[in-house]
Amino acid sequence: MAFAITQTCCNDATCVSVCPVNCIHPTPEERAFGSTEMLYIDPKACIDCGACADACPVDAILPVDRLTGGQQEYAEINAAYFEQDDARPAPDAAGHGPIFHAWGRPTFDRVLPPDFGPLRVAIVGTGPAGMYAAKDLLLHTPAEVTLVDRLPVAGGLVRFGVAPDHPATRKVSETFAHVHHHPRVRTHLGLDVGTHVTPGELAAHHDAVIYAVGAATDRRLGIPGEDRPGSVSATTFVAWYNGHPEVAADAVDLSAERVVVVGNGNVALDAARILVSDPETLAGTEIAGHALDGLRRSKVREVVLLARRGPEHAAYTRPELLALKHLSGVDLLIDDHDPRISAAVDTAGPGDKAAVLRGVAREAVDWSVPPETADGRRRIVFRFHSAPLEVLGDDATRAVRVTGGAGELDIPAGTVLRAIGYRGVPQAGLPFDESTGTVPHERGRVTGMPGTYVVGWIKRGPSGGIGANRACAAETVGTLLADAVAGALPAPAGSARAFRRLVRRRRR
Ligand SMILES: Cc1cc2nc3c(=O)[nH]c(=O)nc-3n(C[C@H](O)[C@H](O)[C@H](O)COP(=O)(O)OP(=O)(O)OC[C@H]3O[C@@H](n4cnc5c(N)ncnc54)[C@H](O)[C@@H]3O)c2cc1C
Ligand SMILES: NC(=O)c1ccc[n+]([C@@H]2O[C@H](COP(=O)([O-])OP(=O)(O)OC[C@H]3O[C@@H](n4cnc5c(N)ncnc54)[C@H](OP(=O)(O)O)[C@@H]3O)[C@@H](O)[C@H]2O)c1
Ligand code: SF4
Ligand code: SF4
Repeated sequence: MAFAITQTCCNDATCVSVCPVNCIHPTPEERAFGSTEMLYIDPKACIDCGACADACPVDAILPVDRLTGGQQEYAEINAAYFEQDDARPAPDAAGHGPIFHAWGRPTFDRVLPPDFGPLRVAIVGTGPAGMYAAKDLLLHTPAEVTLVDRLPVAGGLVRFGVAPDHPATRKVSETFAHVHHHPRVRTHLGLDVGTHVTPGELAAHHDAVIYAVGAATDRRLGIPGEDRPGSVSATTFVAWYNGHPEVAADAVDLSAERVVVVGNGNVALDAARILVSDPETLAGTEIAGHALDGLRRSKVREVVLLARRGPEHAAYTRPELLALKHLSGVDLLIDDHDPRISAAVDTAGPGDKAAVLRGVAREAVDWSVPPETADGRRRIVFRFHSAPLEVLGDDATRAVRVTGGAGELDIPAGTVLRAIGYRGVPQAGLPFDESTGTVPHERGRVTGMPGTYVVGWIKRGPSGGIGANRACAAETVGTLLADAVAGALPAPAGSARAFRRLVRRRRR
């Protein structure tokens, strides 16, 4: 028997530092860590101690003999990773793998001198990036942390992004909850930096300010009809089913039989899965009540996933695609309109994304007829090598014009969701790079602004799972501490108490 890592892994590498035999890879110090979809356990080296399963914040690790249903594939997926030639780097001269050097211990190359007074650090944003930064500061320094979020509920996309049918992933918020209860933390929710307090006021009361404000809006397609009623962003759809306070209960119309989702990243898959899932399986989750009512009344029978490239270049991760294959009452179909699609699926190597689509039915779909689903079943149709040209209709969406095959084609649909990625918005008081939607920085320090830092999606752009923000936070906090040691932080004029008084006044 051995343990295996399964679908919900978010790459935070907590398990790596507790494994006594270094059999979980890639580790954060291995090159493959930057691009891996998940971590894997070497079944030949695992000694079944269970320490990793206890440490995992999202319950992704299970004994192989307790894997059920779709999870069973993960025994093979974990083992297959170690059959690649370069999966396990050679141990160092002391016989240790790379993990013994750094991960799980303070990653900062400068340590604060013992006589250094506690820094007062404000963190704007309570999503994963802000919370990993706060954890680093609290664990490794005597810093006092002010947490600020514009929303009345903490958590960022863990609360308002992660799908409700991923309860294990949402559980990561429990590890972040400890931060809010830490005696050196003050949390101010419902406080918008830029509206209730200015960035200058925040800076004047703290030694340093870290902006972890994420990427709040969606990318635009730039095609005619994009703003027609019925054409909405996945940002809105996701916020709708997660009960975001700023999205109306009637923001999404599910009265047509077909929905076209543009894009094929993990957000597109989340949206498709929620649309075709049996609402009764969602009833026991944290899904918003209005969304559950809407899904119970939904007429949707088919979701088309429109991807401008082929299955070998899909943006989704294998675990999320595998999960679709196990949805009950849902059929998958590939629109076989282009010979490149079958070629990619049939020639894919065992670890390739396109290989997951082997066994999925393929046929050239006739889009001129209504969705052909069997008795009460729903289906997801993958349409690769097809880009949207226009959202057609009048006061409602009627179809999407797309490329593909010999020319253009209209796919009738009542709702179009664009799931083509998120985008950062300019933050008051900070420089902004319009081309990337991020704040320019050097290892986390905002360019030209001593004492001001960024972390997470506003720093790197809107990609990477929850765990990717952990290493990102370590870099930013490391830069901040180095600046503190070098005496490069501007001294705050106001006290912590003065800041609390200011917040109370502004809230009235
Ligand atoms: C729909 C969706 C589903 C996802 N599902 C998964 C998943 O299942 N597994 C996984 O590993 N990863 C998932 N991810 C990725 C993960 O959510 C991100 O990596 C992560 O949330 C980025 O963290 P962040 O802290 O940079 O931003 P966010 O989580 O967006 O947090 C930013 C916070 O800043 C606050 N804020 C913004 N502006 C201000 C202001 N002016 N003043 C005060 N506060 C402000 C916001 O209210 C928010 O709370 C998902 C992403 C999306 C979009
Ligand atoms: N379960 C999970 O772990 C989970 C869930 C949700 C999100 N996340 C993570 O969150 C991050 C964001 O996910 P995301 O899905 O929003 O973004 P993403 O992974 O960047 O995917 C964006 C998709 O939109 C397509 N696209 C972009 N511009 C387009 C255009 N003009 N026309 C047509 N298609 C276009 C892209 O196609 P091209 O590839 O051709 O550019 C791609 O398929 C990712 O790192 C993701 O893994 C993780
Ligand atoms: S979520 Fe973290 S602790 Fe759990 S398996 Fe993945 S990397 Fe390991
Ligand atoms: S069960 Fe123990 S030995 Fe096996 S991977 Fe987990 S921590 Fe390592």
